[in-house]
Amino acid sequence: MMHINFVPNNISIASQIAHILNMYSNLRRVHTYFSIAASNDIYFCEVDINTKRVIGCIALEHILKQYSKITHLCVVPEYRNYGVGKKLMYTALRNAVGTGVQLTVRTDNLNSLNLMNKFNFKIVKKELCIDHYVATLWRDLNARNDELCYDRSSF
Ligand SMILES: CC(C)(COP(=O)(O)OP(=O)(O)OC[C@H]1O[C@@H](n2cnc3c(N)ncnc32)[C@H](O)[C@@H]1OP(=O)(O)O)[C@@H](O)C(=O)NCCC(=O)NCCS
Repeated sequence: MMHINFVPNNISIASQIAHILNMYSNLRRVHTYFSIAASNDIYFCEVDINTKRVIGCIALEHILKQYSKITHLCVVPEYRNYGVGKKLMYTALRNAVGTGVQLTVRTDNLNSLNLMNKFNFKIVKKELCIDHYVATLWRDLNARNDELCYDRSSF
């Protein structure tokens, strides 16, 4: 697998990110090449070097340089459970700025909650969103070393 930072004018990559989000994320909004390319978020992706296809993505938003938000974490189903999600999280955290990182997860998304727990995210709020609960998670950035508890050689 190969890691790349998203190049905003790369139509193929933006289209693949939009496709992955539309197909495999539980997001209400429909994404397009344009919504990804025009976004202010920084996207990171993993690419299968054999097929040259994007197999996972994550987005990072810097909120007034005060804290960062992670969104759009998604791994193509056949590549799940091989550490791609962890690798994307690790990359986003390394590029985060400010006092900490915020993200939201549906409370029924146990895979994602498990993953966030491994990166020391803590639930700070839970709220009803139409027909499901959403948890807001926070992780301080002051102890940058503690997400490195993983064996990075496996990434
Ligand atoms: C959540 C998601 C990104 C995980 O990606 P992944 O590449 O499979 O994750 P990894 O292989 O790196 O696993 C990381 C950790 O996640 C948790 N996890 C992942 N899949 C899991 C499963 N099926 N059951 C339980 N825990 C799971 C585990 O804690 C795992 O750590 P471990 O391998 O040390 O036990 C992926 O399932 C996905 O794309 N889901 C749909 C979109 C989504 O829910 N995005 C998150 C929104 S916040």
